[in-house]
Amino acid sequence: MNKKFDVIVVGELNVDLILNQIHSFPEIGKEKFADNMTLTLGSSAAIFASNLSSLGMRVAFIGAIGGDIFGRFCKEELEKKGVDCSMILKRDELETGATVILNFGDDRANITYQGAMKQLSIYDISEEMLHRGRHLHFSSYFFQPGFKGQLDCLFKKAKEAGLTTSFDMQWDPSEQWDLDFRQVLPFVDVFIPNEAELLNLTKQSTLEKALEIIKDTANIIVVKRGKWGSVLFYNNEIISCDAFLNNEVVDAIGAGDSFNAGFIFSYLKKQTLIHCQKFANLTGAVSTTKPGGTTAFTNYPEIIKTAKEKFGYEE
Ligand SMILES: Nc1ncnc2c1ncn2[C@@H]1O[C@H](COP(=O)(O)OP(=O)(O)OP(=O)(O)O)[C@@H](O)[C@H]1O
Ligand SMILES: [Mg+2]
Repeated sequence: MNKKFDVIVVGELNVDLILNQIHSFPEIGKEKFADNMTLTLGSSAAIFASNLSSLGMRVAFIGAIGGDIFGRFCKEELEKKGVDCSMILKRDELETGATVILNFGDDRANITYQGAMKQLSIYDISEEMLHRGRHLHFSSYFFQPGFKGQLDCLFKKAKEAGLTTSFDMQWDPSEQWDLDFRQVLPFVDVFIPNEAELLNLTKQSTLEKALEIIKDTANIIVVKRGKWGSVLFYNNEIISCDAFLNNEVVDAIGAGDSFNAGFIFSYLKKQTLIHCQKFANLTGAVSTTKPGGTTAFTNYPEIIKTAKEKFGYEE
């Protein structure tokens, strides 16, 4: 089985325009200054794809951009990280998505304009495209209405084409959590939500109750718990793994996506699930040592060097 790509990532694409050192928090009807600004590749799916590629996997991206400067920027940034962009759809009549992030102290306010990502749908993804990869990862369900009610079909198609699958649904900005997980999760090998997302999806108040609700429909479940590490649920067993605690966090942007990259990297190398979880905690922690979601990820030896220096990691 000679596949061109290890992982095909389907997801949203947008730039992040980050304003830092804002003099005071935004107020309606007033204008304020920010002393620092960064334009960077945003979106959970793109951070995941970049970091997985930096770890050494062959990664391709399927997403939608507009025919504008932000679209070109997203593509160029992914390509710089070695991600194949030949399956990205460019729709000249649309605008590329953008998130404006207003950082103030430890807090921030985000606003996302979805643009082209809203138009991507299951009909854009052919069987022939899926056949090029060993694994399909889908991210950010609630940002992409084109997949509403149809995500099970995409994952089913991928399974039928012989791929393994993973899913990070991410936060629902509308907070409706309208996803029929009983329909989707049977076709997902690795489901990777964070704890708050899982509790909202299952409408439960504790992790134990939430796992109880989804365990009969899901396969491997990995729950991200920020500085408390992660929980793995498989074969009726709950396994907790402490974080490689970073007390000097630069920022936590993309920690979850870097965690996903570490898990899927190890999973595709057929490591044990315990190893996958530990390595995911490590890549999540590595992400917090540099600003933004991708700067800490250059190449495998450098990532391991940071892991050894900062967290005493032993291979
Ligand atoms: N302060 C920290 N120190 C060490 N590791 C951390 C820290 N914060 C997060 N991590 C690691 O990163 C993983 C993912 O972080 P988190 O739980 O914030 O994901 P998330 O909410 O999905 O994030 P994202 O905003 O990127 O989607 C955690 O499970 C943990 O292993
Ligand atoms: Mg997340």
